[in-house]
Amino acid sequence: MLRLWPDPPPLYDAADLDDEALRDVYAPDRTRPCVRVNFVTSLDGAVEIAGHSRGLSSEADQKVFSVLRTLADAVMVGAGTLRHERYGPVRLAEASRAWRREQGLAEQPTLVIISSSLDLEAGHRAFTEAPVRPVVLTHAGAPPDRRAAIEPVADMVICGESGVDLSAGLAELLRRGLGQVLCEGGPHLFGALLAADLVDELCLTVSPLLAGAGPGRIVAGAGADAGRAEPLPMRLVHVIAAGDMLLTRYARLGAAASETHGQGADMVAGR
Ligand SMILES: NC(=O)c1ccc[n+]([C@@H]2O[C@H](COP(=O)([O-])OP(=O)(O)OC[C@H]3O[C@@H](n4cnc5c(N)ncnc54)[C@H](OP(=O)(O)O)[C@@H]3O)[C@@H](O)[C@H]2O)c1
Repeated sequence: MLRLWPDPPPLYDAADLDDEALRDVYAPDRTRPCVRVNFVTSLDGAVEIAGHSRGLSSEADQKVFSVLRTLADAVMVGAGTLRHERYGPVRLAEASRAWRREQGLAEQPTLVIISSSLDLEAGHRAFTEAPVRPVVLTHAGAPPDRRAAIEPVADMVICGESGVDLSAGLAELLRRGLGQVLCEGGPHLFGALLAADLVDELCLTVSPLLAGAGPGRIVAGAGADAGRAEPLPMRLVHVIAAGDMLLTRYARLGAAASETHGQGADMVAGR
């Protein structure tokens, strides 16, 4: 992988970024909470090919995907991604766990699932093979029988009366020491996070493919989650080229989302 910006090396120097270098390049600011979103898209903006993101990904993208998990306290997904992406347990390899231990972090990030309907299988591998008990963020109006079915395999956090209050959910994660949140999608969850102005970073992989008409964008939503009053300006933090694929990191301009929402004041620097 060749880092192109900033400070580009000579193009003939195809500097390969190993895991250690990638951890530096993607290092979060642990002095404040952060919601980082990770997506892969085609050149023409498709979020999936034949229903899955796999066809857009590559070895380099998977490497960054894994490094982003290594840096996170919590890995957040919408229930749709859990249902459609053959999503397994969030479990890091030993080398990544060793690095986390050295940093004083929990050995594994916690999986956090967002669901309104609680249409989830308690026997799903993401629950049954989880190294850390997952957290489900839902609301008081979620069906009680489904809640009872999931409670044995996950911590159920009620945030909101008739819909999931993501800001309250993030505040609860922060209270549990999960300040660095990596959102792995999908588009509806990303849309809701954007509508609530809770996004700090986007790590976007641009895959050198033209998918054609059909697939949706990386953001979707309806009703209250349909959009933002104004677009959120972002600044480019870096671009990495891996062959014809680009791995970008963008950060929100100005105040962190947590500052805007009054969270994180009690966060311990360098945790
Ligand atoms: N390209 C990529 O990087 C990437 C990444 C992830 C997913 N994807 C693709 O995206 C597609 C899935 O899209 P999707 O939009 O359905 O995924 P999603 O956002 O993960 O799932 C939507 C579901 O998540 C729950 N949810 C999301 N936001 C919520 C909120 N604010 N409040 C309450 N519940 C919320 C709801 O679950 P309930 O129905 O249980 O209430 C909702 O139906 C798949 O084709 C997948 O391949 C692509």
